[in-house]
Amino acid sequence: MNDKELVAQHAAKRVKNGMTVGLGTGSTADYFIVELARRQTEENLAITCVSSSIVSMLKAQELGLPLLAIEHLSRLDLYVDGADEVAPDNSLLKGQGADLVREKLLAKACDQFIVLIDQTKIVDHIGAHFPIPIEVMPFAWQLVQQSLKQLGGQGFLRQNSQGSGLAVSSYGSLVLDMRFDPKLEIAELDSLLNATPGVVEHGIFYGLASTVLLADNGVVKEITV
Ligand code: A5P
Repeated sequence: MNDKELVAQHAAKRVKNGMTVGLGTGSTADYFIVELARRQTEENLAITCVSSSIVSMLKAQELGLPLLAIEHLSRLDLYVDGADEVAPDNSLLKGQGADLVREKLLAKACDQFIVLIDQTKIVDHIGAHFPIPIEVMPFAWQLVQQSLKQLGGQGFLRQNSQGSGLAVSSYGSLVLDMRFDPKLEIAELDSLLNATPGVVEHGIFYGLASTVLLADNGVVKEITV
């Protein structure tokens, strides 16, 4: 069993009867969905799930997990997802898969947000490995890019994985991948991005994680915020 699977199985043990559970997106979240579906079948667990993306919805549907549309959600007990980077203050970078809006809605609406990572995701500051993904209204991208340049940001519109055009999120946003001065405080950058007109959502998850579960060479460590 690899570290992603191990940490996902560990997190699935936290799910209790009656819970509403947010399903993340990515390879680690996929392992969680599989283990949750196994528990539901074998232990007759009564749960309701909400997906953070169309991909995780399809996976959950295929495995027979009961799904609630996000439109009908007012709160949830638990949200379990991976991350692309985790800094020492437990701020996260997410969104290499582009669909940030649902992920952040679930992270905000849950009582507990458990983040699943392996050692490769630990960084000394957000943005160390990846640019910050910023979803923008399609007509606003140039003005947003200009505003972000004034904050010292540099970056471009994301291309799609086929290299044949621009990446478009499930809800029609474009994605600017931007790099900023690492000395800029992440809390300040979070606020600045939140206040930029035309930005739909961005990949900095500041102050949202409740618990980080880190799998390191077969051992799971818990970092509670
Ligand atoms: C999805 O948009 C991302 O935030 C993922 O949570 C992140 O990319 C983690 O992916 P893996 O679990 O595949 O490493």
